[in-house]
Parts: sequence; C-alpha cells; structure tokens
Amino acid sequence: MTRRDFINRTSAGYAGLSAWGLLRAAPAAAFSLPANGTDTHGNGRRVVILGAGLAGMATAYELGKLGYDCTLLEARNRSGGRVWTIRGGTSETELGGTPQTSQFAPGNYFNAGAARIPHHHQLTLQYCRELGVPLEIFNGSNEAAYLYNHQPASGLTAAAGGGATQPAAVSPLANRRMRIKEYHNDMRGYTTELLAKALDQGQLDQNLTKEDVEKLVDFLKNEGDLNTAHLYKGTNRRGYKTQPGAGPTPGEVVDPYGLTDLLRSGFMQPVFYNVGDYIYEQQTTLMQPVGGMDAIPKAFEARLAGKIQFNARVTELRKTEKGVRVVYQKGGKPAEMEAEFCVCTLPLPVLKNIESDISGTVKRAADFVPYIKTGKIGLQFKRRFWEEDDGIYGGISRTNMDINQIWYPSYGFMKPTGVLIGYYNFYGRAEAVGALPVAERQQLALAQGKQIHPQYATEFENAFSLAWHRIPHSEGGWAMYDDATRRKQYPALLEPDGPIYFAGEHTTYLTAWMAGALTSARRAVEAIHKRVG
Ligand code: PHE
Repeated sequence: MTRRDFINRTSAGYAGLSAWGLLRAAPAAAFSLPANGTDTHGNGRRVVILGAGLAGMATAYELGKLGYDCTLLEARNRSGGRVWTIRGGTSETELGGTPQTSQFAPGNYFNAGAARIPHHHQLTLQYCRELGVPLEIFNGSNEAAYLYNHQPASGLTAAAGGGATQPAAVSPLANRRMRIKEYHNDMRGYTTELLAKALDQGQLDQNLTKEDVEKLVDFLKNEGDLNTAHLYKGTNRRGYKTQPGAGPTPGEVVDPYGLTDLLRSGFMQPVFYNVGDYIYEQQTTLMQPVGGMDAIPKAFEARLAGKIQFNARVTELRKTEKGVRVVYQKGGKPAEMEAEFCVCTLPLPVLKNIESDISGTVKRAADFVPYIKTGKIGLQFKRRFWEEDDGIYGGISRTNMDINQIWYPSYGFMKPTGVLIGYYNFYGRAEAVGALPVAERQQLALAQGKQIHPQYATEFENAFSLAWHRIPHSEGGWAMYDDATRRKQYPALLEPDGPIYFAGEHTTYLTAWMAGALTSARRAVEAIHKRVG
C-alpha cells in the first residue's frame, strides 16, 4: 500500500496521520541544530544583534544555546518591537506627534501590533510552549458582529447612456448595521438556490450522473438551508426576532433580505469580503497569549538577562577586518561595539537611515521595499455593551468607513469595563486617520463607531491610538512585497553581506506575522553556525 493509498483509505484525521509520522509540522521541525547544550562550538564568538524584537531575541536565544556571546542593541526602553501591548501607563510619542499616555484601567489592554496567532504557525506556538507562555483562543470570526456600509446620500453616478449625472440610489441596506450571520446565511441561501435550480433544470455544464446531482443538491440544501422545493425562504440560522422560550413561544424568524437588495448593499466591496473566515491565516483556531501579546517578548527577554542594551540606537554599521563595528547612541553619547558577526533585524525604513557599509543591493532593498501604513485605536468603555447588549464576545465588525474594523476583546468577558479596538485600518484609511492629532483620531473613531454602536456616546472613557508608520524605530506596519520586489529586492536580504546577516519578517514569505520574525531568526542562526562549524 502506498502512503497515498493509506491516507485515502483510512479515516484518520490530521492527529492520526501525525501520529503515524505521515504529516510533518514543517516550520517547527525544519530547524536542524543540535539540542540545547550538546554543541557549544559557537565558542564564545561575539555576535551583535540589532533590534530586540522577536527576530533579534530568538536569534540571541538560539545562538546562546550554541555557545555564542550575543549582545542586543535596542533603541527603545522595551523589547518586542512591533509586538507591543498597550496598558494603563503606556506612553509613546509618534514622529511629529504629541506625547500620549494610556489611562486604561488595570486589567484592560489591547495589542497594538501582533494580535493573533494562526493554529498552523507551528514555530510561534512551539516557542510559546518552550518559553511557558500560556495561550487562550483569539476569536477571529464572530457571526454576531456587524457589517455597516456607509453610503452618503449625495453620491452622484453617471446616468446610463448619457453624460449627465443623477443621484445614486442609496441602498436600503446602507447606513445601518447588519449582523454578519444575516448576510452570510442570506447569501448562502440565495446562491445555493440558484445552483440547485440550474441542477434541477439539467443546466450545469458538467458530466454528473443522476446520483451525483442528487448528492450535490443535498449538499446545497444543507449548505443554504433550502426548503423541499429547493428555495431559500430564510432560516433561523440568521437569528430570531423574538427568541424561542418557555411555554407557547417557539421564537419568531424574520424574513430574509431580498437578493437584489443584498447585491446592491455595498457588501461586495473588498473591505467587506469574508476573508476572516476563509483565508488560511485567519481560519479558526487562532490564539493569543493570556494577558497580552507582550508575554512572548517578555518570556524571551527573561532568558536573555544582561544581554540586551536598551535605549541604544544604532547610527552606524561598519565592516571591519575581523567582522563588524556598530556605533550607537547610549544615553545621548556615542558608543561602539565590535563583533565577529552582526544579525540586523532593523525594519527596512529604519535601516535605510543608518550610515553603513552594507552592499548596494541591500541598500536598494531598504529603499524600494514598501511598508504598509496601518493603525489602531484602543477605546476604553465604562461598560461592555457589546457583550451585554449585543451578545458579541470577541470577533470583528467591518465597515467601509475610515475605522474599517472594530475588534472586540477575546479576554475578560463579563468584566465591568473593557477596551475594544475602535479601528484597525490600512493604506489610505490608515494614512488619513494617522495624519490626525490623537484627539481628532479619537473623535473620528467615536463618531464613526457610534453608527454601529450608539452606546459609544454614553459609555466612552478614554483612548490610545497609534499609526505604525509614525512610530519611531518601526516606521511602518510590515513589508509589502509584490512580484517585482520579490524578484529584484528580496534576494539581497537572504544572503549574508560579509559578516552581516539579515533577519525579521521582511526577510521571509511570512511577512506581517511573528512566525516570519521567528523563522528568519532560525535561518540566520543556522547560516552562522554552518559557516563557523
Ligand atoms: N498579521 C496581521 C494581522 O493579523 C496582518 C495581516 C492581516 C496579515 C491579514 C495577513 C492577513 O492583522
């Protein structure tokens, strides 16, 4: 029996196949270095690591196991880089901005950067295991959350056939919130009905037997909750107007929205796409550390005692005969450090502004790989109205307004107060909102969020916002490659530039994820150890 036959014939699930060794968790298992302490022929070699984010700290942690002598230079007074949790007392001043200090109550927080871990990011999860970071579920997709299409009444549209314009009809489903479950189930119902109709009329251009067609129709009936005539007439999957209860109260289901109303609702715009449920990175189950994402950097930091120099901003990176020389600012004064190797994890927008001997190809990569503009705001409310009034426990609401997404906390359910993420936006929306002073960002988040949650008006307490492209020492969300930059710029970051190795999410195909930072660290460690070995 071949391996494939075996897989096809058994009913074993993923766990069963893993147990038989037929499936491998590739990313975590791909690291081929000796176990802790069995090989120390790094032999005290000096390595200077630029940046104490996840890439830098994982590099130091693994090189430390192999006997290297690492020092990390970190410009901030904290570790973690773009893994950053905002709590009461957190302060930050953006480039060109005014100082902000969070007033969140004890126990309230939001993850300003990394905020969710896909279940297949084996390496990230393995580090959580190894470092003892407890995880809980991050609820990424919630059918009880809302969609809201904002459509201004004044919108003009070209009249068919002529050059004249006329007011665009405002969709009856615009400018009001709709539960995601209503939209999903109605669209599923109507599309399965259409397909069932085509099958019933023998109009499908596929060679299917009568039995195949019956099975497909059965699938469609279940998928869309079609009636015996294969029609979609609504379903209790989209919720009830009055809930079923005791005695003579069976519960009242409301009629579905009309197909044409839905098609004209605006929900087919890309911002509303149902990616949250479908795409590989966002499929359930997602995880988060208990108490905030910074539990991961803190766990690394605890194992790197004395190796991180904080408030040490690198200004120069030089190649020498014996390796590298790094010049940095320490407490306002210049300082220097020499080492045999350097692992540079600085984000490209930061690397770009450092005096260095790095090669022209790396410099060009730093110049030409764009970073996304992205921002978030944490809003503290006196009351968890989204839980108490709306039955929303975690998950994400989506809108085409500037706020784009509202994230409800996947922790602290039922607590008296709470912090939700009042916007998570990208590109032009993040640029526009990020350009505002913090007080105006707060106003905007409240005014737009109020359209979805009228309770904002009475329950709001305080806010903390950030625009990653304006955050010192990051200056961007994450690297955004396209085919051309992958081809032209990316390769330079994968090779050592003399004694200098590059790591960080921007040196991987896992950009925008902690898994990218971590896997890049292991790649750099393997390369250095191989060279030395
Ligand atoms: N990892 C980031 C996040 O979870 C950015 C990202 C969003 C990456 C969506 C891929 C898809 O928000």
